[in-house]
Amino acid sequence: MTKQLITSALPYVNGLPHLGHLVGCLLPADVYARYQRVLGEEVLYVCGTDEHGTPSEVGAAKENMPVDEYCKKYHDLHVEMYRGFNLGFDYFGRTSSDQNKEITYRIFHALDKNGFIEEKTTKQVYSPDDGRYLPDSYVMGTCPHCGYEKAKGDQCENCTKILDPTDLINPKSVLSGSSNLEIRETRHLFLQLPKIEAELDQWIETKKGLWPDIAYSIAKKWLKEGLKERGITRDLKWGFSVPKEGFENKVFYVWFDAPIGYIGITKQWSDEKPTERNWEDWWLKPDEVRYTEFMGKDNIPYHTISFPATLKGTGENWKTVDFLKGMNYLNFAGGKFSKSAHRGIFLDDAIREFPADYWRYWLIANAPESDDTNFSFDQFAAVVNKDLNDVLGNFINRVLKMTEKNFGCQVPAIGAITENEKELYQTLDNLIADYKRYMDGLEFRKAMSTLREIWVSGNNYIAKTEPWKVVKTNLEYGATILGTALNMIRLFANLSAPVMPETAQKMLALVGAEKTPVWPTEKMETYLKELPAGKAFTPSDPLFQKILPERVEELKIKYKETEA
Ligand code: 2FM
Ligand code: ZN
Repeated sequence: MTKQLITSALPYVNGLPHLGHLVGCLLPADVYARYQRVLGEEVLYVCGTDEHGTPSEVGAAKENMPVDEYCKKYHDLHVEMYRGFNLGFDYFGRTSSDQNKEITYRIFHALDKNGFIEEKTTKQVYSPDDGRYLPDSYVMGTCPHCGYEKAKGDQCENCTKILDPTDLINPKSVLSGSSNLEIRETRHLFLQLPKIEAELDQWIETKKGLWPDIAYSIAKKWLKEGLKERGITRDLKWGFSVPKEGFENKVFYVWFDAPIGYIGITKQWSDEKPTERNWEDWWLKPDEVRYTEFMGKDNIPYHTISFPATLKGTGENWKTVDFLKGMNYLNFAGGKFSKSAHRGIFLDDAIREFPADYWRYWLIANAPESDDTNFSFDQFAAVVNKDLNDVLGNFINRVLKMTEKNFGCQVPAIGAITENEKELYQTLDNLIADYKRYMDGLEFRKAMSTLREIWVSGNNYIAKTEPWKVVKTNLEYGATILGTALNMIRLFANLSAPVMPETAQKMLALVGAEKTPVWPTEKMETYLKELPAGKAFTPSDPLFQKILPERVEELKIKYKETEA
C-alpha cells in the first residue's frame, strides 16, 4: 500500500491565522488527510510554524521579547487555534527546530559539494532610518512587470513573479515608510537554479495532466522565462547560521529552510518515537510514498521550482511532490483580510462564535478553488441553516423521533424491500462513486455539493415513502424504511467525517455504529442493512442550531463586514 504524505504550507509564526489561512491550505489538507484515513490508508500529515526571517525579529522587538521566546509564544497560539478547528496533524512542528537545522545543513552541504552553490557580492537594501538591512519583503514599490504599486521586494502578489528588491520602482521601507534607502554591497550564497533547469524541466514535463493546470502552467512559465540563481543567505541574526567559512555571521534565507521544514518536522515527529517511526521511510523511499502538497497560489513557484530544485540538486533520492493543490484567496466582504485594520475573522474569534464543523463545512463547500471567493455572514448563515440544519440535521431528527415513537430506541428490523429502496440504493451508489472521484481529485466544492446531494437523498426517501403513514397500516415496511434511514445516518457520518469530524463522531455514536469512521466499501444493498436489528440508539437533541437573522446582523457589525 502506498503511504500518503500530506503537507500544508507552513504558516508564518508571527501574526495569527484567519479564515483565509484556514481554507488556503490547512483545512483542505486536513480534510484530505482525514479522507485518506477513512479509506484506511497510512497517512502522515505534517505542518508547523515557519519561524525564521525578519517578521519574527521585528515582531519580537515590538513585544520586547527575545526572538526565540516570541516564536514559542506564537507557535503555541497556532497550536491552540488549530486544535479548536480539529486539524488532525500527525505532527505540528517548527522550522526553527534542531531537526530542521540538521536536514537544512545536510541539504546545503550536498548542494555545495555538487557545485550548485556560488558566492557573489550583491547589493542589498540598507535603511539608515531603520538601522538595518531590509529583507526583500520589507521593501515595497511598483512591480516592474505588472505595475502593481504595492509589490513586495521578494514577490509580486499580483502577478506572482518573484522579484529582487532592486527590481522595484520607487522602493520604500515597509517598516518606517522611508524612501531614504541605500544599496550596500554584501557577500551572499546563491543556489544555481540555471544548472538544475534541464533536470527540473524534464521532471515537470512528467507532471503534465497530473498536476492541476495552475501549478503546471506556473512552473512552465517560469522555466520558459529561464531560471535565475536565487540568494539563499541573508544578513540577519535570527535563523540558521550558514555553515560555510566566511558566512558564519549570516543566516539562511527563510524560504531556503522553510520547505525543508516539511522534512525537518517529519524528523521531529520521528524523533519522538524513534522505535516506531522513521522519517526516512517518508522522504527517502520515493516509490513507496505519494506526496500531496497544499498551499496558497502565491506559494506555487516555491513548491514547483525552488524546493524541488533544492532537493534534486543534492543528488540524493528525496521524495518530491506528486500532486499539489494551490488555492486562491478567500476575501472578506469583497476585500482582503487584514490584521492591522482588524478586518476579517481570525480563528480565535471564529471558534468562539460557532462550532468548528460549521466553519469547516462552509469553508470547504465554498473553497476558493478556481477563483477567489468571498466570505459573508449572510452566505455563511444561509448555508449552515439550509445544508446543515434543514437537510442533514432535520433528516437525523425526524428519523430518530419517528423510530423512537413507533419502535422505541432500537434499530427496527429491515424486512422485504421495495422499488423505493432499490432506487435509493442505486442513487446512493452513484453519488458515493461521484463523491469519491471528487475527493480523490481534491475537487472540494464538487465533493461537498455531492455530499449535500447524498444527504438530500435521505430526505427524498423519507418524503417519498412517508413512514409516518406507513407505520399505521404496514408496520413491517415502516420498520424497513426507518431501519434503512438509521443505516443512512451511519453512512452519512462516515462520508461526512473528513469535513465534519466532530459531527460525524456524534452521528456514529447516536446509532451505536463504529467509533472510527470507515469508508463504505460495500454496495448500498448490503451496507444499508448492516446495523443489527434491536441495536439501541440514543435519542438526541438537534445536532445543529439555526443562525437567526438578528444574530447575522450583530455579527456583521461586530466584525465590520458592513464597513468593508
Ligand atoms: O506563505 C507562507 O505563509 C509561507 N510561510 C509558506 C511556507 S511553505 C513551506 F515552504 F514552508
Ligand atoms: Zn507584478
